[in-house]
Amino acid sequence: MTPPTLAPPRPAAQQPDWPDRTALRAAATALSHRAPLVRPEECDRLRGLLAGAAAGHGFLVQGGDCAETFADTAPGPVRAKTALLAETAALIESALRLPVTVIGRMAGQFAKPRSRPTELVDGVSLPVYRGDMVNGSEPTPVSRRPDPARLLRAYDHAREAVLTAREGSGREVFTSHEALILEYEDALARRDAASGATYGLSGHYLWLGERTRQYEGAHVEFAAGVANPVGVKLGPTAEPDDVLALAARIDPDRVPGRLSFITRMGSDKVRDLMPVLVEKARAEGVEALWVCDPMHGNTYTAANGLKTRRYDDVLDEVRGFFEVHRELGTWPGGLHLEFSPDAVTECVGGPGPATEADLTERYTSTCDPRLNRAQTLALAGAVAELFTGFPAGPADGGLRTA
Ligand code: PEP
Ligand code: CO
Repeated sequence: MTPPTLAPPRPAAQQPDWPDRTALRAAATALSHRAPLVRPEECDRLRGLLAGAAAGHGFLVQGGDCAETFADTAPGPVRAKTALLAETAALIESALRLPVTVIGRMAGQFAKPRSRPTELVDGVSLPVYRGDMVNGSEPTPVSRRPDPARLLRAYDHAREAVLTAREGSGREVFTSHEALILEYEDALARRDAASGATYGLSGHYLWLGERTRQYEGAHVEFAAGVANPVGVKLGPTAEPDDVLALAARIDPDRVPGRLSFITRMGSDKVRDLMPVLVEKARAEGVEALWVCDPMHGNTYTAANGLKTRRYDDVLDEVRGFFEVHRELGTWPGGLHLEFSPDAVTECVGGPGPATEADLTERYTSTCDPRLNRAQTLALAGAVAELFTGFPAGPADGGLRTA
């Protein structure tokens, strides 16, 4: 059970500029002695469920905060999120009549890739907030300083969330986050004595973001080295060759359920850009699970300076995703959302804030704007409708009773 080497030999994008490397190494070593947060058997079971979804026998609902905070891991918030995930899944399941697997963006979603390393706050340049695993969101020089002790706090908070998520809401909830901070991920990666395989035991499902999916980069190397089910985000710049190369590198043995592609194209691009990716992957025999993230391609800045998304754009990207799969005869395998179970006012439209001016009422996200509870359930209802009348999956051996 020794963790692999800590120093990533390949270039790692989006890593904090840790001011104290000695403290970073000490934190990583301490972390490598902690108990894993999840078990290899659980990761394998999830992989089996995702294999079913990829083959057209099910669906994935994945969701939670953009940036989970340490405060979000208290039992109350975790229960509220798992309950909303379960409600969302139940709505879709009742229309689909196939099993829906649920994964929370929680218990480790504490680190964020950012478009710029610094920001100006009242004329002062500060390091950007990179998530509670790295620094504080409060805009002061002290709070924004990357602090390696936060890796250990992240572990403790993730553990608290895992324990609550395990209590169950009647439906099993797996955990996931973006595998971003490599010291954290490497320290919690362990070789499983039973199988000889290495697992990233910081969460059941780990994904690579749009900004860390470089073929030659350290994050892809990490994903290739663990046996968990893993996802890769695909934005509008993704080329068919990127998809094929990533599949060959991360999942050379084509293990069913191992690889998902999470597309986040934007509502205006999904119908144009996604088909060639799905088609080329299929032509090469890549049987990935295709998941729709209708959030990250639809972000814009409102007139009042708040980052937001239009509910209608989110819904339209989901519709486009289903249209593409219907045309190609492939299976729309899942939905990846940023949501809050609270009545937040972060995304505009649908059963949420009517205008951009209403966004200031209850905007609590420390990063991207989330759908609120009503918007999430409305979207789930729309997905349920899209499945009513959707042809059965390509490999659906008559399991669906619709
Ligand atoms: C995210 O999921 O919060 C995120 C940063 O997404 P992406 O990598 O797709 O931009
Ligand atoms: Co986000």
